[in-house]
Amino acid sequence: MRVNENILISSLTTMRLGGPARYVIEVESPRDVADAYGFARTFNLPVFVLGYGANTIGHDEGFNGIIMINRMRGITEEPTANGVQLKIMGGEYWDNVVEYSTNKGLTGIEALSKIPGLAGAAPVQNIGAYGQEIADTLVSIEVYDTASGTFRTLTHDELGFSYRHSILNTTEYGRYFVISITIKLQPGQMQRPFYNSIETYIDENGLTDFSPASMRAIVSAIRADKLPDPTEKASAGSFFKNIYISEAEAEIAGDKGYPVHRGNDGIKISSAWLIEQCKLKGKLLHGFRVNEKAPLVLINESATSYQDLDKARAEIINKVYDKFGYWLEQEPVEIG
Ligand code: EPU
Repeated sequence: MRVNENILISSLTTMRLGGPARYVIEVESPRDVADAYGFARTFNLPVFVLGYGANTIGHDEGFNGIIMINRMRGITEEPTANGVQLKIMGGEYWDNVVEYSTNKGLTGIEALSKIPGLAGAAPVQNIGAYGQEIADTLVSIEVYDTASGTFRTLTHDELGFSYRHSILNTTEYGRYFVISITIKLQPGQMQRPFYNSIETYIDENGLTDFSPASMRAIVSAIRADKLPDPTEKASAGSFFKNIYISEAEAEIAGDKGYPVHRGNDGIKISSAWLIEQCKLKGKLLHGFRVNEKAPLVLINESATSYQDLDKARAEIINKVYDKFGYWLEQEPVEIG
């Protein structure tokens, strides 16, 4: 285990905001995890578990506690009756897992290509894109349970998955440290109809190969075109969530002429559309650029403080509320 002191949160997160964290502990074994929580208890310090920092925002005053980062890596494979189970250590970079599986012709997570982050963080917010989410293939996870001080297995059904949520970021927030995740994949490919943007890309490019490797290439190309690479431009991915609504609300929205999307994950109003209608696309607000092609993404061009984010966020949320009566909700979590 490596213990570092006074590390700027801005250097650990892709939005590049945030003052110093008192301790940053990099854990390299399950034993380290237990020891790090022991250290936290002894000194009565709060713990925040960070992954790649792609969905996390730091505050200006920093964090008077311990940031824990999972450095355990590796993928192990076990055959099942109709495919394979992959056990992935939580510190593995998520996109390596997608590359590994698509190279073997396995379907299940190919649409989750190029999502920045670590494997251990994937179930926490139930990462999803282009019609797939990690909940579809996840079998179980291994965790350290801080409530009992023991290592446990939590099954898919115990994790209570929904859009961008699981018990890990809601009812049991902060209780479990994800050591590894186990997913189940099969040979095969995704079935049509695909998500709109994929169908459009396929038509425009005359594509007919929908194998996992090809789908990975398609999704990667679509994402590269519209989503900024967090290693090049500071951002936290989608900053706002889409708005999921009931059938009754959908009828009202439809009557008003708002576009309503129905998918197997529910009915939603696209927040990107709401922001676009407010003429905010491409706008620079307090150092944050509302991304032109994917307006859910805020790019930190010149902001150096959380105060700036607070102002930019309020402006967007209020504009959308004034015009449409919907409150946008933030997707990234905040430290402290
Ligand atoms: N749209 C507009 N105006 C725009 C852009 C999009 O009206 O300027 C509409 C499109 O017509 C489309 C809808 O918005 O029907 C959805 O757009 P898109 O498919 O691009 O996805 P999104 O809703 O903006 C979500 C996820 C992304 C994920 C994509 C692809 C959330 C908050 N975001 O974005 O996830 O990659 O779908 O599945 O659910 C992330 O979480 O960081 C992230 C990038």
